[in-house]
Amino acid sequence: MRDDSFPPDAAVSAALLAWYDRSARVMPWRVGPAERRSGVRPDPYRVWLSEVMLQQTTVAAVRDYYRRFTDRWPTVADLAAAPDAEVMAEWAGLGYYARARNLLKCARAVVADHGGRFPETRDGLLGLPGIGPYTAAAVAAIAHDEAAVVVDGNVERVVSRLFAVETPLPAAKAELTELAARLTPDTRPGDHAQAMMDLGATICTPRNPACGICPLSDACSARALGLAPELPRKAPKATKPERAGTAYVVRRDDGAMLLETRPEKGLLGGMLGWPGAGWVMAADPSAPAAPPIAADWREAPMQVRHTFTHMHLTLTVLVARTPLHTHPRRGAFVPAAEFRASDLPTLMRKALEAAMTLLDGAT
Ligand code: ADE
Repeated sequence: MRDDSFPPDAAVSAALLAWYDRSARVMPWRVGPAERRSGVRPDPYRVWLSEVMLQQTTVAAVRDYYRRFTDRWPTVADLAAAPDAEVMAEWAGLGYYARARNLLKCARAVVADHGGRFPETRDGLLGLPGIGPYTAAAVAAIAHDEAAVVVDGNVERVVSRLFAVETPLPAAKAELTELAARLTPDTRPGDHAQAMMDLGATICTPRNPACGICPLSDACSARALGLAPELPRKAPKATKPERAGTAYVVRRDDGAMLLETRPEKGLLGGMLGWPGAGWVMAADPSAPAAPPIAADWREAPMQVRHTFTHMHLTLTVLVARTPLHTHPRRGAFVPAAEFRASDLPTLMRKALEAAMTLLDGAT
């Protein structure tokens, strides 16, 4: 690790802010540095929403979701009043669905307990459901210019290189947070946080860092040691278990599709999906995994593969067409005019795709 006294952390943060003034990325939820200087402040609701969406997801993937959410629910009170099913459907495809359930809980707590205004400090924000240390710090810094220490994956990478931290992640987290705190300035902490993230996303990238154009290259210990592309080191990940399940895709003769809302707790909780079998798919893992209707089930020619945070899943897709007056044991028919594949999480969309050849073929 580099000497504590040189270069001064304040000089690093000044160089970073000067770079951000020239190179800040334009984002729909962001108030850029020039506007900010003239006194414009971002809406905490929009900062919070974007930060929740951006966790585990790229800026490119989030843009359209963010636009649809803010068009539909322009304030936290609008979101708090939205029916769960509509919010979950709008979130479908973004993944990590606990975020969407917590988003609603948080919006409702802001309305019920805080008069519709987000708390203005990191500590106050931490008291809300679903807001952890990262989101609390990011919203406090970006929306309220609190000198909160904001550490996401990008920041971890930048800091580990700047200080040549060789400890592998996740063990290095506390050390990296401490070093990030040393860099966090009292002036413009919100811009500083966003500058760190932009630097990590555009220059200090995981594989081919563009050290030649980096505003911090003179201060970077990893660069001096020729280590930049190797940092941060990461402890080997545990291999993910393989699981198997079955999805039942049923189309009624009038085009209605059989769907069920998954239970709040568990995989894809609260999302719409095909009735399933196998512990991974069942509404209740101990329940017998009977098909939702009696039918002539046919197996889709392709299985579905999907990877979650903690496992790989192979899904066998069983497909049936059924007459108008079918009474399913589980789930409910969604009329063709109301069915939108985009309301489904990615796994369920893949299952529909696999089922399509059989659904579109002869009866
Ligand atoms: N990633 C997560 N939050 C971000 C932000 N506010 N700016 C840039 N990238 C981000």
